[in-house]
Amino acid sequence: MDYFAIVLAAGQGKRMNAGENKQFITLADKPVIIHTLEVFAKDEWCKSIILVVNPNEQQRMKQLVNCYSFGKEIRLIQGGSERQESVYKGLCSIEDKTSIVFIHDGARPFVTQESLHKLAKVASAEKAAILAVPVTDTIKQRTDNQLTTLDRSLLWAAQTPQAFLFDRIYQAHKQAEENNFLGTDDASLVERLGYPVQIVRGSYNNIKLTNPEDLKRAQSFFNENG
Ligand code: CTP
Ligand code: MG
Repeated sequence: MDYFAIVLAAGQGKRMNAGENKQFITLADKPVIIHTLEVFAKDEWCKSIILVVNPNEQQRMKQLVNCYSFGKEIRLIQGGSERQESVYKGLCSIEDKTSIVFIHDGARPFVTQESLHKLAKVASAEKAAILAVPVTDTIKQRTDNQLTTLDRSLLWAAQTPQAFLFDRIYQAHKQAEENNFLGTDDASLVERLGYPVQIVRGSYNNIKLTNPEDLKRAQSFFNENG
């Protein structure tokens, strides 16, 4: 059930409005990205970690990562201006073309090892799987002046990690690049080629730190779980 992890940290965190990349924000004594890396470092199924960083922050990130002992190889590579480009660069750096690859947002420090293992098992058997949770809000679709209500029982909120057989996700990213297609997650690139993607039920705690409000919630998770 071994896998490689691509952890994405090359964004700018604009919506967080912290004056710097949100990956560096300290929560419970450690920067967000360190919390995220620790989850993968502790998982014995994770063979090694590719950390995709902003080229302007490569030195800072390298120094930060060197301050901790993860007991596992963490390779830094430079990302691109869009998340999708950052993922593609991460994929291009993987030499083992037969492996399972996990793609994870550095801004999701609360993913659990239990979820990682559930995902790895399904991805190994089915070639593509994502963590997701049932949508709890009622979702409206607005087009021009017409509002419609989507059937909530069919809706899932996609999270990361998203896990794929290397060949499948590499092909999907390569084709998306050739077609100038920009998706909002990695699974959507696989879906558009007609391949199935399985859903593995994740946890509502696996939030992505996006807006300043999310930091309060994150702090309370850390307080509850020590
Ligand atoms: N990411 C990346 N490369 C990019 C853009 C995003 O590696 N060019 C990463 C981010 O660092 C983050 C994850 O993708 O861990 C999810 O993206 P998002 O939450 O949108 O983070 P940011 O792009 O940093 O934030 P914002 O959109 O508010 O600027
Ligand atoms: Mg972004």
